[in-house]
Amino acid sequence: MFRPAILRQAVKALGQSTRPAAPRFLRPLSATAPRFQKDDSDDPLIKATTRAPEGAAGESEGKYARTDENVVIEYPDDENMPPSPVVQGRGGMHFKRTLAQFSLENRVTLVTGGARGLGLVMAQGIVASGSNLAIVDLNRDEAGESAQKLVDQFQKENPGLEDLPKVTAHYADVSNPDSVNNALSEVLANHGRIDHLVTSAGFTENFDAISYPHDRIQKLWGVNVDGTYLFATGVAKHLMERKAPGSIVMIGSMSGAIVNVPQPQAPYNAAKAAIRHLASSFAVEWAVHDIRVNCISPGYMLTALTRKILDENPELRDKWISLIPTGKMGVPEDLMGAVTFLLSDASKYITGADLRVDGGYTLT
Ligand SMILES: NC(=O)c1ccc[n+]([C@@H]2O[C@H](COP(=O)([O-])OP(=O)(O)OC[C@H]3O[C@@H](n4cnc5c(N)ncnc54)[C@H](O)[C@@H]3O)[C@@H](O)[C@H]2O)c1
Repeated sequence: MFRPAILRQAVKALGQSTRPAAPRFLRPLSATAPRFQKDDSDDPLIKATTRAPEGAAGESEGKYARTDENVVIEYPDDENMPPSPVVQGRGGMHFKRTLAQFSLENRVTLVTGGARGLGLVMAQGIVASGSNLAIVDLNRDEAGESAQKLVDQFQKENPGLEDLPKVTAHYADVSNPDSVNNALSEVLANHGRIDHLVTSAGFTENFDAISYPHDRIQKLWGVNVDGTYLFATGVAKHLMERKAPGSIVMIGSMSGAIVNVPQPQAPYNAAKAAIRHLASSFAVEWAVHDIRVNCISPGYMLTALTRKILDENPELRDKWISLIPTGKMGVPEDLMGAVTFLLSDASKYITGADLRVDGGYTLT
């Protein structure tokens, strides 16, 4: 969920901002101004509540359930982005029995944003489940290196297997329709067909809503929303032309259902809500063509990038973790099973669903 290379470098959360500090004052849990003040101490309903009097919680009242524009999260330049390793010993070492319907054998899957981060690890799970793979990413070189690493890891985890998966790397800027069409043609020329799509290309950044530069909002929505839309419609069109069934998984975020605190990120939250509802809308529109569309909404996941940011900012890490019922952030491997399930025949009757992989964050 983090955006490389934008305007701000390394987290300076909570009070280390160069911006002037916002005035601090106590406020009630609801910020809605009362229409008029009246003495309601005799009101039987008020008397019956266990509501604490305003201000009873002291300084911490409302502290954690608000965005704070003083929280500034800054991201490394592209050159300083930490590369993602493929994970070891988690996806493969097969020959454990499992339901055949979870298999993706003889399928071709396209993963956008698969060069690194969550996309790369989901791609690894997809390859481990038997699929051939096309990684599509803005970063062509890293996509190529990751493709090779995936095949190497597969070989290590499946010693003696001669039939190796075909994994290719392709360039696209997912927000650009021509670039998307070129990438789709390239993938089809290489693999002959596409059965599954996972849209993981995306990023976030943090500005308070008032200061958010408009061109950056458009860029964020362009990559997260348009990019998802363009790839999903492109793949669905191909499946309809082939008269073939297929399934698509869009990577949203828990931010599409809740508002993260304390870092402000309104356009990202709206983008992820849009992705979730696009999945539902496409699911209904394409059900008749046997094309399923589902959404995965991850919570806070420890990628190479989030690990770097949070290692440098333990206070922010502790705040995030305090809000997660399971008491820990997720790891990218936690998405391997979820994505395989939703792509495979194991979820044949599931479409338009939003699968939250968030350690329970959105429940509280
Ligand atoms: N990491 C988290 O905690 C988290 C949580 C919830 C949702 N998500 C979502 O998961 C997805 C992946 O996030 P991540 O943490 O792996 O990010 P990441 O930055 O590690 O990886 C994103 C990948 O997308 C590629 N990309 C970016 N813009 C692109 C464009 N215009 N065209 C093509 N490729 C592009 C990048 O090159 C990179 O390989 C995003 O949609 C993000 O919003 C992440």
